[in-house]
Amino acid sequence: MRKTIIAGNWKMNKTNNETIQILNDLKKEIKEIEGISNIGVVIGTPFTALSDAVKTVENSVIKIAAQNVYPKESGAYTGEISPAMLKDIGVEYVILGHSERRDYFKESNSFINEKIKAVLSHNMSPIFCIGEHLEDREAGKVKEVITKQVKEGLANLSADEMKKVIVAYEPIWAIGTGKTATPEIAQETHEQIREVLKEMFGETSKEITIQYGGSMKPNNAKELLSQKDIDGGLIGGASLNAKDFSAIIKAAL
Ligand code: 13P
Repeated sequence: MRKTIIAGNWKMNKTNNETIQILNDLKKEIKEIEGISNIGVVIGTPFTALSDAVKTVENSVIKIAAQNVYPKESGAYTGEISPAMLKDIGVEYVILGHSERRDYFKESNSFINEKIKAVLSHNMSPIFCIGEHLEDREAGKVKEVITKQVKEGLANLSADEMKKVIVAYEPIWAIGTGKTATPEIAQETHEQIREVLKEMFGETSKEITIQYGGSMKPNNAKELLSQKDIDGGLIGGASLNAKDFSAIIKAAL
C-alpha cells in the first residue's frame, strides 16, 4: 500500500520563533494520528528554522523538509547549502523542482535531476515537484509537459531509489490562486504520471506516493485525497497555520 503523505511547503514564510510555535500547536492538533503507520506528515520550513524545527518535532509523527539544496558535497558555492549539511541536522525530506524555482530561478530538469541524486545519496527523500502552466493545459499539452519533466527529472534512477522519492503534481495555475484542479482533472493527470513512472520503473510505480498541490484547503482536501491515484498533498498557504493544516491531515484519515 502506498503511504499518504501530507506535506506543508512554507516557502519564504515564518521566522524561527514562529516555526517553533506552529509546530508545537500542530503536534497538539494531530495527536490522534500518532501510531497510524500509513500517514506521514512533513513540514518544509525555511533554512533558518530547520534545526530548531527538527528538535521541536522530535518523537512526533512530523518530519522536516528543506525547500532546496545545492548538489555538491562542499566547496566554493557562496550562499548554498549541501545535502550533508541538511542530513547532519536531521532533515529527512527536500522539496525539489518546485515551479517557483523552475520559473524564478530557471532550474532545468537536468539540474533538478542532479539535486535528486544528491539528496538520495545522503539517504534523504526528495519531494519532486512537476506541473504545467495554464497555457500548456489550454493547448492540450499536459501529458507532454509532465512526461518530459518526469523522464528528465528522474533520469537514471533505479526502481529501488524511487522507493524514497515522492512526486508532487502541482498545476501551476492552481498554486496560490484559489483555483484548485477538480478531483477529476487531478486524478486524470495523476494517472498519466503513474503511467510514465510505470514505463520507467515497472511495478515500483504502484508504490510511489504522488501528492497533489495547488490550493488544497480543509474544504476540498477530502474529495481530492479520496481519488485513487492521489496519495497526499503538498500544501502552501493552508499549511501556515496549525488549524487548517491539521484539518487537511485529518481529511486523509
Ligand atoms: P498553495 O497551497 O498556496 O496553492 O501552494 C501550493 C504549493 O505551491 C505547495 O508547494
